[in-house]
Amino acid sequence: MPIKYTTRSTGASVCASGYVVVGVYGNKDFTLSASDINDKTDGALAALIANRDLKNEVGSCVLLPLASGIKARRVVVVQLGPRKKFDQANLNKAINGAAAMIARLEPDSIAVFIGDMAIESRSTAYLARRVVEIFSAHLYKFDQLKKEQKKSRRQWQVQIAVDSRAAQKELQQAVETGKAVAEGVCLARDLGNLPGNICTPTYLANTAKDLETHDNMSVQVLEEDEMAELGMHSLLSVSRGSREPAKLIIMNYTGDASGSAPIALVGKGLTFDAGGISIKPAGAMDEMKFDMCGAAGVIGAMQAIASLKLPVNVLGAVASSENLPDGAANKPGDIVTSMAGLTIEILNTDAEGRLILCDALTYIARFKPQTVIDAATLTGACVIALGKHCSGLFSNSDELAEEIITAGEMSDDRAWRMPLWEEYQAQLKSNFADVANIGGRDAGAVTAACFLARFTEDYRWAHLDIAGTAWNTGSKKGATGRPVGLFVQYVLNHLNRDSQS
Ligand code: BES
Ligand code: MN
Ligand code: ZN
Repeated sequence: MPIKYTTRSTGASVCASGYVVVGVYGNKDFTLSASDINDKTDGALAALIANRDLKNEVGSCVLLPLASGIKARRVVVVQLGPRKKFDQANLNKAINGAAAMIARLEPDSIAVFIGDMAIESRSTAYLARRVVEIFSAHLYKFDQLKKEQKKSRRQWQVQIAVDSRAAQKELQQAVETGKAVAEGVCLARDLGNLPGNICTPTYLANTAKDLETHDNMSVQVLEEDEMAELGMHSLLSVSRGSREPAKLIIMNYTGDASGSAPIALVGKGLTFDAGGISIKPAGAMDEMKFDMCGAAGVIGAMQAIASLKLPVNVLGAVASSENLPDGAANKPGDIVTSMAGLTIEILNTDAEGRLILCDALTYIARFKPQTVIDAATLTGACVIALGKHCSGLFSNSDELAEEIITAGEMSDDRAWRMPLWEEYQAQLKSNFADVANIGGRDAGAVTAACFLARFTEDYRWAHLDIAGTAWNTGSKKGATGRPVGLFVQYVLNHLNRDSQS
């Protein structure tokens, strides 16, 4: 059930929401809303803090139970850390802390007071948007495949509250933006979480087709025969080992009628990656249903961009297949010819992502994109290098790399740049073809990116290796929706830049 987000501008003490969330800087420095609550409750909040119930760690929360003098049933007090240290990182920790507590308590109406939470160079509107995104992320559930779904869930109401009417105006649009991003993230998570037997390349194509209900969005799906005609033998070599037909999904969003060159987002959409003949070990192989999270990120971002009607042209491209062992599957040593004409020696059939992406990256050049960003769960080596905190970022443009790093910080969907130096290209040498599809043990994430770089020389390009960031493992196993946040933020920043110039 969708969450209803609204804005309000009354004081915290008169707010009749079930739960009110207010922040405290350290243990003496109250935000306006925290002081308001404290004043009307005869100092109950100060007493709680004097009792050391609120930890110093940013994002820690404590519940002020039933208090008289205020209208809300409960108050959640969240630790913001020292006011002068309140920055992007602390904002994320604080809102995540509050949202995690709220998600456990499952109240039906919540008001989050952000009026007095300021970070340098970020507007209140930005803060509001982040609150919507973070709360939605915590309230997300994936129970559509269980017999007993949580039917008890009511319509949740989340209010983003500030202390004045002037500030409230600015918030409306921000809340809408936050909702669109959050819904894009949810879509990406749903697609990621769906199993391989449901979420096939055809399923992804149908989901993308559904986006045509948005204005200025047209979706075209290239079938295997069309791809063969275009010479995409690298991509098709992967799907030959599967009974599910491959799809190349092109989502064309034309929000800018002036016809400016599009930003292209490209996603790896392996709806299941067993490794092919170079089959993976059995342990945790189920997680290879998440090997389409790059594709999910592109589809989620396209939905958000279209529903916000952003005045920009964005092309979304998803290359989708399964990678399975079969009599017709690629064999180690096979040589295929890519659409670009480069021949590829497939030394490991499990390095399939680059085989399908290279043809998609060649194909989209015909749309004359001004920038191309691909997202792919490309290498286990990237997870070894960077863990699960940031995506690996590779780019042939320093300027683009900086823009993506900034967008990642703003959306709490960070990326860290890795090298794409010529020296690494030597690892991809093949005795029999133009290029090998693997580069040995060293620097596996880099050589995978180097492989893609051979196909992207003609445009401004960046590659995001999201193998570590696209899903969580263990008891929290599930798709994260990354990099939808980064993608949409990138486009929003691009629009601001243009309107300033
Ligand atoms: N989808 C995997 C990458 C992956 C593995 C992501 C584990 C997250 C967790 C990709 O297709 C793959 O199998 N890559 C190989 C490349 C190798 C054969 C050069 C890998 O990382 O092991
Ligand atoms: Mn693989
Ligand atoms: Zn893969």
